[in-house]
Amino acid sequence: MKKWQHNSLLGLEYLPAEDIKQILDLAKSFKEGDADLLPTDSLLRGKRVINLFMEPSTRTRIAFEIATKSLGADVISIMGEASSLTKGETLHDTAMNVQALGAHGIILRHSSPGSPLLLSEMVQVPIINAGDGSHEHPSQALLDIFTLREKLGSIEGKKITILGDILFSRVARSNLWGLMKLGAKVTLAGPSTLLPDEVASLGVKVSHNLHNAIESADAIMLLRIQHERQQASHFPSLSEYSKMFGLNKPLDKLLKREAIILHPGPINRGVEIDSELADSSKSVILQQVRNGIFVRMAILYLLIGRKP
Ligand code: CP
Repeated sequence: MKKWQHNSLLGLEYLPAEDIKQILDLAKSFKEGDADLLPTDSLLRGKRVINLFMEPSTRTRIAFEIATKSLGADVISIMGEASSLTKGETLHDTAMNVQALGAHGIILRHSSPGSPLLLSEMVQVPIINAGDGSHEHPSQALLDIFTLREKLGSIEGKKITILGDILFSRVARSNLWGLMKLGAKVTLAGPSTLLPDEVASLGVKVSHNLHNAIESADAIMLLRIQHERQQASHFPSLSEYSKMFGLNKPLDKLLKREAIILHPGPINRGVEIDSELADSSKSVILQQVRNGIFVRMAILYLLIGRKP
């Protein structure tokens, strides 16, 4: 296995394509039960991982917990509202204390963009970004790309449409970097208030027309409206958003027969996607969630398990 060079996983913007592929390949080995990695529950034995989640989470936190336990490490999760941050302690002091308690790695979700980078400069243990504001959510993008690769065979040349609230989405940002590095043809689609035309300078196609954006796509990745990050409304009403940009059953006939539908969750049914499509055979949403365990096992093993 190639030597892993990074101390932390902060985002995909600065992670080279070959390192993204290394995580994906290792995740595949975990999923397939590669004999070289058995028994997996001894790979991180004796290590202690702290989940520091300052924003709500279901999928990411649980998948990181399962991944950590599957590798034989101890995992302790602290939620923001249950920590001494509520008593005025700084994030820096919190992290220094977590390190003093013997953490070998810290998984951080925080509303402030850049907070994982800041922590990585303050503590000696690896930091894994589990979502920082609207900046990046690298483990989510990696599991999305893993699922795309599994379903489409490869990423190179595939047409991937990311549809919805691009402006406030850390998932969109991480996917954009990752997919472009692996050679996908990415279209970003949504209302102009949630998709500034400047993003075209990143080398992607920008579309404000739902039909054009989905009809030739190999995969459509839907995004939730991130109300929690929006100071003001960016469209007249949810029902109008849904009418203009929601994926519903009548639109199914526009999609390629073999196209797949992804969503990082949580889904707002009836807004960005109707139940008929969310639960259809085109949907790989729950497969994404399950793949999140293997991708996070790979991330933890590379960052924490392979240290001298
Ligand atoms: N996709 C995602 O980050 O989901 P959670 O907020 O439930 O972790």
